[in-house]
Amino acid sequence: MKRLDGQVAIVTGASRGIGRAVAKELAEWGAAVVVNYYQSQEQAEQLVSDLTGQGARAIAVRAGVAHPDDVQAMVERALEEFGQIDILVNNAGVNRDRTLRRMSVEEWHEVINTDLNSAFYCTSAVLPHMIERNYGRIINMSSIIGQMGNAGQSNYAAAKAGLIAFTKSAAQELARYNITVNAMCPGFVETDMVIALSDEVKEALVSRIPLGRFGRPEEVAAFIRFLVTEGDWITGQQFNPNGGMYM
Ligand SMILES: NC(=O)c1ccc[n+]([C@@H]2O[C@H](COP(=O)([O-])OP(=O)(O)OC[C@H]3O[C@@H](n4cnc5c(N)ncnc54)[C@H](OP(=O)(O)O)[C@@H]3O)[C@@H](O)[C@H]2O)c1
Repeated sequence: MKRLDGQVAIVTGASRGIGRAVAKELAEWGAAVVVNYYQSQEQAEQLVSDLTGQGARAIAVRAGVAHPDDVQAMVERALEEFGQIDILVNNAGVNRDRTLRRMSVEEWHEVINTDLNSAFYCTSAVLPHMIERNYGRIINMSSIIGQMGNAGQSNYAAAKAGLIAFTKSAAQELARYNITVNAMCPGFVETDMVIALSDEVKEALVSRIPLGRFGRPEEVAAFIRFLVTEGDWITGQQFNPNGGMYM
């Protein structure tokens, strides 16, 4: 018996990067997984085919997390397919880095909508169901940038800091329904988001990480798996897999 057998997880932004690693990890531990994607249909379908090939239950569902109607439809699809939702990982996110002097209103809103408002939409959509079943495990993917800020990322930092405050408030509201809500605040992790940085920026970043390297998506995924398998008495917290970059 695997620890997550019989449970169902929605992982937003699971077509690539950290979300993909989380979907794989939860599926390996027995959960049925909704692999949410937006643009990367092929990668999402490939992941689902890999997972189902290994005997897991998984479906790919396209939904833009910044659109409440899409999110509602995704949750309905998940319930239709698997009958329940135990775990929600609000992972999908984008960055549109620009100094404040140059940042457009569109760049500000895109990041706030995709990285912060999405967590409200997804959480609200699963809540009636989780409350009815008196069980839920919600993880919000914040960032080290939400804790320490970063020049050129005011939109992203504001969204990620907002997620931390959202996490604490939701945790206080939902504990009575046995729903825990926690925030992950990774440091720099090797995904497309970080690979896109120039070599110069990457070197400068690594020099600020005491453990001397970027993280791996699997290292964040393992922590999330711990939270959903062992974290029954953990809520409202921030977890910092960041190589010691922020203490
Ligand atoms: N990498 C890091 O160093 C790092 C550090 C701290 C926190 N984080 C956070 O961790 C999360 C994942 O980051 P990552 O590095 O894995 O990024 P990534 O490799 O760029 O992947 C982003 C994922 O989000 C999805 N996504 C983007 N916009 C979406 C939308 N509107 N609706 C649904 N899905 C959407 C993408 O799906 P499609 O490709 O299908 O559109 C993709 O699966 C983000 O919230 C990020 O802010 C990352």
